[in-house]
Amino acid sequence: MNKKINLKEFTDHQTQASAHGIIKLLIADHKLLRSLMKKVKSNKATQSQKLLSFKELEKTVHSHVKAEENSFFKLIKENPTFHDMVFEGYEEHRVHETIFGGIHRVSDKARRVQQMEIYCEMLDHHLHEEEEDLFPCFIKYSARSTRRKIGQKFLEIRKKTNKTKNERGASRFSLNPTP
Ligand SMILES: [Fe+2]
Ligand SMILES: [Fe+2]
Repeated sequence: MNKKINLKEFTDHQTQASAHGIIKLLIADHKLLRSLMKKVKSNKATQSQKLLSFKELEKTVHSHVKAEENSFFKLIKENPTFHDMVFEGYEEHRVHETIFGGIHRVSDKARRVQQMEIYCEMLDHHLHEEEEDLFPCFIKYSARSTRRKIGQKFLEIRKKTNKTKNERGASRFSLNPTP
C-alpha cells in the first residue's frame, strides 16, 4: 500500500521563490471556494449576503474550471493513468454549469438560496474527489518541472478569466516568479 500523500504538507513545502506548481495553485483555489461556500451556508448571513457570496462563488468556479480544464486536464487527459478521473471531472464540471443555469431561473429567493446551499454540497464533493484521487495520483507520476509548467499555464488562464474584484485563491500568485 502506498503512503498517503498529505496535500497540505506537500503544498507547504513548495517555495515561493520558484514557479508555482499546479497542485499548490489548485489547492489555493479550492480553499477559496470552500471559504465562499461557508459564507453561502452561514446561519448568520442574511439572504442578500448569501446571494452576493454565491455570485462570487459562481465567478470563481467559472474561472477555476476554465483554467483547470485548459491547463491541467488538457495536458494529462490522454494519459491512461489519469484518463477516467479526468473525464469524470469534465462531466462533473458540465453538471455544475447546468445547475448554475437552473438556479438562475428560480425567481423565488428563498428557494434559490436553498438550491445554492445544495449546490455547495455537490461542489464540496467534487473538490474532495479531486483532492483524494486525482491530485495524489498526479503527484506520484509527475516531475516537479512538469507541475511547474502546468502551474504557469493554469495561472495565466486563471488570471485572465478572473471576473471578481479580488485577486484571491490561485489568482493572488504572480506569474513567473524569479528562479
Ligand atoms: Fe474540478
Ligand atoms: Fe478543482
